[in-house]
Amino acid sequence: MTAPNVTVRILPDGEALGRAAAEAVAAALADAAARQDRVTLALAGGSTPRRLYELLAGPFRDALPWDRLHIFWGDERLVPPDDEASNYAMAREALLRHVPLPPGQIHPIPTDRPAAAAAYTATLRQTFGDEGPTFDLALLGLGDDGHTASLFPGGPLPDAPWAAAVTAPARYAVRDRITLTLPALCRARRVFFLVSGEEKRAALHRVLDDADPTLPATHVRARETVTWFVDQAAAG
Ligand code: 6PG
Repeated sequence: MTAPNVTVRILPDGEALGRAAAEAVAAALADAAARQDRVTLALAGGSTPRRLYELLAGPFRDALPWDRLHIFWGDERLVPPDDEASNYAMAREALLRHVPLPPGQIHPIPTDRPAAAAAYTATLRQTFGDEGPTFDLALLGLGDDGHTASLFPGGPLPDAPWAAAVTAPARYAVRDRITLTLPALCRARRVFFLVSGEEKRAALHRVLDDADPTLPATHVRARETVTWFVDQAAAG
């Protein structure tokens, strides 16, 4: 049972998921661009969004308001920006280097400073003011342990209003992370989750069917809507 403003869309496979999400991203950002000068999008990390990003740079390229779009990240691993584990690097290769985004509109999470969370918070404040980030759209993935962004189960979630430095569980290759916090994510107007693969099935059902409070993804809300783009393999 999901909350009233939550929609679950089940697509046959990863390609269909990417296309459905690309259409929805284009529609959401066009809607925002019709209402305001600046449009803000927080990208998800991991591997699932890659196909979506490739489609946004390809067949959907002309549907996005690049001249007014500001790009942020939901989380980042503390590795150099050209490291293969970097969420920024994946987005740059799949999307950013192929589209006419002014460089000043791309806001990576700084990973070269000890106070990266504070630096990212300062960037967010510059864009959104002191109230807190209100992304027009935030993209998120789901880990097989129910984490999202770099908010992991098993311990207290950071409750800072913006961003926080966290340590991922030992099973993850890169443990030092910077993440948007739950309060920051929940201020987004719209949230899209992208979930693909059978290995996500258990976590997905614990979130959507059981509303398992031990899983961080269960607590993600949005001011307007949350849409889950799920392929058949993950949905079961
Ligand atoms: C990260 C991501 C993380 C990701 C999930 C799913 O930095 O790892 O932000 O939250 O979305 O782990 O990752 P996959 O898409 O690779 O399965």
